[in-house]
Amino acid sequence: MKKRILTGDRPTYDSFHLGNYIGSLKNRVKLQLEYEMFIPLVDLHALTTHFDRTDQLKKNIRGLMLGYLSVGLDPEKVTFFVQSKVPEVLELAYFLSVLTPRPLIARQPALKEKLDQGSEDTVGLFYYPVLMAADILLPKANLVPVGKDQKAHVEYARDIAIKFNNLYGDVFPIPEPLIGEVPTLPGTDGQAKMGKSLGNAIFLTDSADEVGKKVMSMYTDPTRIRATDPGHVEGNPVFIYLDAFASESDKLQTTNYKLLYSKGQVGDIEVKKYLVQVLNNFLDPIRKKRAEYENRPELVDRILKEGTEKARIKAQKTLAEVKKAMKLDYF
Ligand code: TRP
Repeated sequence: MKKRILTGDRPTYDSFHLGNYIGSLKNRVKLQLEYEMFIPLVDLHALTTHFDRTDQLKKNIRGLMLGYLSVGLDPEKVTFFVQSKVPEVLELAYFLSVLTPRPLIARQPALKEKLDQGSEDTVGLFYYPVLMAADILLPKANLVPVGKDQKAHVEYARDIAIKFNNLYGDVFPIPEPLIGEVPTLPGTDGQAKMGKSLGNAIFLTDSADEVGKKVMSMYTDPTRIRATDPGHVEGNPVFIYLDAFASESDKLQTTNYKLLYSKGQVGDIEVKKYLVQVLNNFLDPIRKKRAEYENRPELVDRILKEGTEKARIKAQKTLAEVKKAMKLDYF
């Protein structure tokens, strides 16, 4: 049997950017070949910080679905579903919550971070990791690819699965975090991380012109005044992007530009023009695929609906096992 992978996304935005691609989507496209994959769109989690913006959820879910399909996630291999349409997750979360030491989740670093960013200190936000553990355990996932910031949550899911199994008998496989050595893509402004809210992102949905504009105003090497000054390649976002997105046939030219740049023999503008070309070559097939799906909204709906039905059947089965193990199967 193939091992099962689950990773969720909060529909708080409607388009992925290049950083999402390098940090996560690219890896998923590879993992889908080897594993059975579940991807919930976790609208209930989105509510913890966006309860006042529920009017955006439909648009965001649709945008993320188009994003997944456009980068090559295959609905034959991946079960996409809407979290709130599988309400069994809330029931399981409750059972997990009664086994969860309150101080343990009170200490979660992610909570402090969200509060520092201005989120309201609600019971729902506090409960976040419990719901996430239920996401993972309900379809009996074995592996959870997440960023470093989410590792503690997956470890809690693992610990609570162990505790449940010890108390009531083996119901859950023990999930493990899968923390790849995912490179973080810097922003176009040179900041360490590309982020939608930071205004330094290039989106998979940007047009060729938008990509051109963003790249031509990109941060490069601040110590370089003239094109004849030797430039820094290391840590220069233009070259980091080239390394990340150049196709095989562009690798030689990239190496060549690095050499010229470090010797002060090529200007920023020329290298940037080359990067525009590289990025648009990378994005063109994604744009094309997205347009195909955009023209078939009923197909995208069907993929999400069928995935949700499949996830729900699985969820009901697991929940019945949970209740039986807990002796709550009264009649
Ligand atoms: N907490 C994750 C994030 O902020 C989203 C998420 C919810 C998730 N449930 C999950 C990730 C289950 C992996 C597995 O990105």
